[in-house]
Parts: sequence; C-alpha cells; structure tokens
Amino acid sequence: MCGIIGCVGKKSAAPYIIQGLKNLEYRGYDSAGIAVIQDGKLLRLRAAGKVNALEKLAAKKNFTGVSALGHTRWATHGKPCEANSHPHTDCGGTLAVVHNGIIENYLPLKEELKKKGHVFRSETDTEVIAHLIEENLKTENKNAPAEKRLLSAVQKTVKRITGAFAVGVIWSGAPNIIAGVRRQSPLAVGLGDNENFIASDVSAFLKHTKKAVFPEDDEIVLISPSGAKFYDADGCQKKPQITKIKWSSAQAEKGGFEHFMLKEIYEQPDAVADTLRFGTDDMPSIFGVDKNEVKQIKNIQILACGTAYHAAMTAKYFIEQYAGVPVNADYASEYKYRSVPPAAGTLVIAVSQSGETADTNAAFKKAKSLGFKTMAICNVLGSTLTRMADHTFYTRCGPEISVASTKAYTSQLAALYGLALFLGRENGGLSEERFKSLSEEFFSLPRLLDETLKMLAPAVEKLAKKVYRRETYVFLARGVNYPAALEGALKLKEISYLHAEGFPGGEIKHGPIALIDKNLPVIALMPKDALFEKMLSACEETKARGARVIAVTDSKGAEILKNKVSDILVIPPATPFLTPVLNAVAVQLFAYYIAKLRKREIDQPRNLAKSVTVE
Ligand code: F6R
Repeated sequence: MCGIIGCVGKKSAAPYIIQGLKNLEYRGYDSAGIAVIQDGKLLRLRAAGKVNALEKLAAKKNFTGVSALGHTRWATHGKPCEANSHPHTDCGGTLAVVHNGIIENYLPLKEELKKKGHVFRSETDTEVIAHLIEENLKTENKNAPAEKRLLSAVQKTVKRITGAFAVGVIWSGAPNIIAGVRRQSPLAVGLGDNENFIASDVSAFLKHTKKAVFPEDDEIVLISPSGAKFYDADGCQKKPQITKIKWSSAQAEKGGFEHFMLKEIYEQPDAVADTLRFGTDDMPSIFGVDKNEVKQIKNIQILACGTAYHAAMTAKYFIEQYAGVPVNADYASEYKYRSVPPAAGTLVIAVSQSGETADTNAAFKKAKSLGFKTMAICNVLGSTLTRMADHTFYTRCGPEISVASTKAYTSQLAALYGLALFLGRENGGLSEERFKSLSEEFFSLPRLLDETLKMLAPAVEKLAKKVYRRETYVFLARGVNYPAALEGALKLKEISYLHAEGFPGGEIKHGPIALIDKNLPVIALMPKDALFEKMLSACEETKARGARVIAVTDSKGAEILKNKVSDILVIPPATPFLTPVLNAVAVQLFAYYIAKLRKREIDQPRNLAKSVTVE
C-alpha cells in the first residue's frame, strides 16, 4: 500500500503535493518523492523516510511548475531507499510514474525492455511502467496531439501489465496533462476550480475540492487545469459520475470508517488478495525452497508473539495435516530461554507483522546461531527480521495502523496455509489432484472473506449490544480453530480491557467450567466439521450452567443449532482448514463492537504499542 497524488492547475503544484502526501502518509512512509514539469522539463526529488524529509528538501528547490506527481511509499519490491523511491522515470528522463499496487509480470517485462536497450535504475516493479510507456510513445504518430499520444501509450501499457495498480503519469511532451489509471487499487479523481487531482484517496485533495470521481478498473483519466476526461480501456470517452464527498479529512484517511481497526478489518479481502498474488508454479520461489530442500525438512519450529503466535499455532494444524511434517509453535519470548536440542532438517519460521518485535528477533537470532535454516513471514520490507532470514515471504497488507492486529493476522494465516499446501505437494503429503482442489479454494479466500464480512458485520454489531455489559467472556473452539478462540480472547482483552479466555472445547470440563455463571457469553467457533458434535457437547456443558452460547458456524451448523444456542452468527461454507481465517473476522468484529460500546480507545488501547521493540 502506497499513497499517490497528482495535481495540475494554475498555481505551483508542489505545495499541493506535499500536503496531499502528508494526508496519505497512513498508507506508508518508507520514502517519498515528487516530480514536477517545469519549463518543459521533468524535475524529480526523492527522499528516504517520511514526507517531512521530502518537504525539507523541496523547500530548498524553486518548484514553480503547475503539474506534479507525488508518492509516499510502503516498500513491496526493493528495499526502502532513495533509488527505489517513486516517481520512477524512463531512460530519457521525460516522463515519470507513481504507482500503488503490485505488477505481477514485471520480471518478464523488465527482461523484454532490457533487451530493447532500456536501463533500469531501481529494484521496483513500478519502473517497468515508465519504460513501457516510453517504448509505446515511440510508436505513436508524432503529428498527433500530445494528449492523444499519451493516452494511447498508457492504454497500450495497461494492456501489457497484470496485477493491481493505481498509476499516475506525467510527461514533458504534454506538460499540462496528468494521466491516471487503476486496476483493483484505489484511485480517486478530484475536480476543483481550475485545478484537478488524482490520488489514492480523497483525503489527499479534500481541502481543495469535495467533488470526486472514482474510475473503474482499466479506465484512464486525463486531468488538465480545465477538467478531467475519462476513457474506457478501448479509448472511448465516458461520462463521469461525480460524487460529493461529505467526509472530513480525518474521516477520509480512515476511508469513512470510525476507526482504523474497522477499516483494516474491511481491508482483509484486499490484503489477502495482495498476499496471494502468486500462482502455484511460483510457490518454490515465493517460499524460497525447492523440491529437494523440501524433502530435507524433517521438522518445523515457528516463532512468534501475540496475534502472530496464534497464526503460528494454526499453521501447526495446516502443515501437519497437509505435509505431515511435525511442527512446534513457540512463543518467541520462551524459545529464547529454553534449551533447544539440535535436530537435523529443522526449518525455523518467524512470523511477525512488523519484523521489529524484540522477542521474535531475539529468538530468531538464537535459531540462526544453532545453524537452522530460517524463513520469515513478515509485512515490512527491509525490517530487522527480514535482514536476518535466509528467505522472507512478504504478506502484502500495507501498513497496519490500529495497534490491534487484524489484516496482518489473516494474511499470515493465508501465507502459512499456502506454505502447508506447497510443502504437501512437494513432499508427497498431498496428491496432485488434492493439491489442485485445495489450491483452488485457497485462492478464493479473498472472496470468502468478502462474503464473511457481508454476512457477519450487521449481526455482530446487533449481538454486541446485547452482551457488552458482561465483564467476562469465554471463547471455545477445537482443532484448527482453537487458536482462533485464543485470538478472539486476545482481541477482546486488548481493546475492551475485559476479561476473556480462550479454551479448546474439550478442555472446559477440566477446570475452566468453574468460570461459567448465568448469562456469561460463551463464543463457540464451530463450523460443521468433524469436531462439530464434540463442540456441541462443550456448548451443552456450559449452557447447563447458565451460559449464553453464541455459535459461529456455517449454514449446515446453523440448521442443527437453531434451538440449541442463544445466538448464531453464520459464516460461508469453506474447507474446514480455511475456517480459522473466516472465524478471525467474527472475533475481530465482536471485539471491535464491544470496545466501541464500552467507549474504548480502539486504535490505541492503553498500555500497548504497535511494535514491541523491548524484550
Ligand atoms: C495483537 C497484536 C500483538 C502483536 C505482537 C507481535 O493485536 O498486535 O499481539 O501480534 O506484538 O507483533 P509482530 O507481528 O509485529 O511481531
């Protein structure tokens, strides 16, 4: 997730760009950059770090050009540094591109363009767009108007690239025009008074205009000081649908949601889709192990803290089921201080959103010192953890602003599920046929998450109103869903400051049942899988002691539970091993709405920090 902005008007564009980038900084802040067309030339300035660093440098330049692009980066391809910062330019230095998203086919395109003589100066996927447009501009009729040539070159470029993108382009050949185009990544067009904008979201230009257009996939927009023209993928001009934005800037940053946490809960289908932007054939390179190396993996140790630890625990079920390799999930803070016997064929995986958690990094360092092969599953490119790992799989969910982790968790689960399928295929744990059918459903996870949100959100909000006054909550689940019960309890504790516990359904009778009293909410995560009946017994045991049982299940389970529990929340049907990802959404929403009714500081709960950098 990066932030892009473009502005063209009658006044110097640089101040608009810097201000807009500050409003977009929540989307990423590894580095920032600006490109301005001035006196017929393209000028570019980039700086590592936050937008402030760019602002200081820009203040020393005399940017007077009225057409400019800006970018604030969340690194996905290439470490955060000046050379990888956007805007990226073509060989001739006449055009500049800013991009948010992932170009999936950038490697073959890069090779093709290199053969044609293009010289690349960054490690990014984005740079291919600049060179492709340059290449396409060469074939345009030189006598055609510049605006038409730019439109046509962008169109041809869009047809060659796959993946998700929102792109802004400026070219000194058409100095008063900015082109914008999107596919799956967000792009808003702002229509002002003699000044027009493109940006990742409206917060970047709300100060100047509240009139916005949201282009569709592959639609190209050309903005100029006098207006904006919209074209479909075949170049036919379209009539835009203008929306009047009623949000304040602060609301706009949160996409109109009241809290970042809720916004991030809703971002999960996209976060997981971005994490899964690879095909089954890419798995060896994505996971950094080939068939021979997979065969040498005799056991796996997964290290993590907090929510990431719950993803690690879930992975034990995934990997042992599909690949038959023994897995041990460890709290990183414990691993460091226990004796770890040497074992040949050990793969150590650290799971971390930030890559800066001191406990996780210390444990990982110990694993490295023991000579184990290492892998990181991490969301932050270039973070300390990734620098230590032999290989990193990046979850690509963009910055997570809310302290309570949501989209990073489901992306970690997706990554680990993919790893389990891959290991199973390579070591013979899964037949090719089974691998194929499981993969098909796995890659449809973003759609399942989308359905889950639609099915659950209003129902969970309503339910929260009934139970939020209770002081203690119990989450129950079995098997692969047990860690989701722990995650439910953790989320609730973190943001509502209420007492919550998660237990395996079979364990409740061994002690925790003493907690149950009249109306105590018991949230039972129980899809209609092989353990459903066992979960039903656990529910009965708590119900007999007066508990209010809230079941999270699928439609088949709901049919059976109809008259047996107090409340039912329905998730879509899915392969049993994918249900922890859907149940995660249920427990996140539950915690969110309880905390909201309790009027808590949801995005920044007391005593917590987003990244715990001390042991
Ligand atoms: C819970 C939460 C924490 C983190 C934990 C690890 O919502 O956010 O429990 O999961 O501190 O952080 P990372 O994943 O950055 O290593």
